Amino acid sequence: MGQTPVDPTAAPFPPLRWQEVARRCAGRRLGDPLIYQAEVDSTNAFAARLVPDPATPGAVVVADHQTAGRGRLGRRWLAPPGAALTLTVVLPPLAAAWSLPMIAGLAIAEAAARFGIEAGLKWPNDALIAGRKCAGILIEGRVVRGASWALIGIGLNVRAADPSLPSATYLDAHALQPVPREDLLVALLDRLEHWRERAGTDAGAVHAAWRARLITLGRAVSVRTPAGTLDGLAEDVAPDGALLLRLADGTLRAVRAGDVGMARMGQPDWS
Ligand code: BTN
Repeated sequence: MGQTPVDPTAAPFPPLRWQEVARRCAGRRLGDPLIYQAEVDSTNAFAARLVPDPATPGAVVVADHQTAGRGRLGRRWLAPPGAALTLTVVLPPLAAAWSLPMIAGLAIAEAAARFGIEAGLKWPNDALIAGRKCAGILIEGRVVRGASWALIGIGLNVRAADPSLPSATYLDAHALQPVPREDLLVALLDRLEHWRERAGTDAGAVHAAWRARLITLGRAVSVRTPAGTLDGLAEDVAPDGALLLRLADGTLRAVRAGDVGMARMGQPDWS
């Protein structure tokens, strides 16, 4: 995402009351242990260093400030200290690895809904409120001595967004009162656990719920892929999450990685 550094003195948001979150997550499948860092390079990088010991399935790394937060496709992810929920969940991989972004997207949308905020999902990995990005998901893998782990990184703007991205938004801008980050994190982990269990028993239900929240479908889009930009109609998503794009020549193309730009004021907006 944006390349302009955030001014760390600009937004003195209070730190996460992580002990309260840890208490509420004790004994649960996700969030026990809850590993809090006031400042870290990246929660995904920290979690990768942690695996496999003392990481246990369901360990969560959460930080108030990332100095080198990572976005998708090699970008950075920035947030003023204490303004977002930045976390990484460590999981043994699901058989259906492609469902991980779906699970994370659904969890973000449903956690926001608990605070009266309606969020939609933009293929493949973003959550939007009123057309503006409020959260991103970065899934990474780590193999240690033959055992592979999935690292689900989530950045969810709560008090403010990266000021260098004017098209980004944050939950408090759409809520009647400030959303308590502790309650939001507990809700997020609760919904993640719900959808992770569901993926183990009924991956089709996860796909259907995710598809129903995708605001991308039925729209004219430009998709930046590693092989170039494709323009077309976002017709549907395949069971494995690929975007099915109807091209001008009538063919249907399955796109597995890329960034979707949706027309805003006549120009595609990829943010
Ligand atoms: C994107 O929108 O490009 C994905 C952003 C993912 C950001 C989160 S913040 C927590 C976790 N740690 C990271 O370094 N990145 C992810």
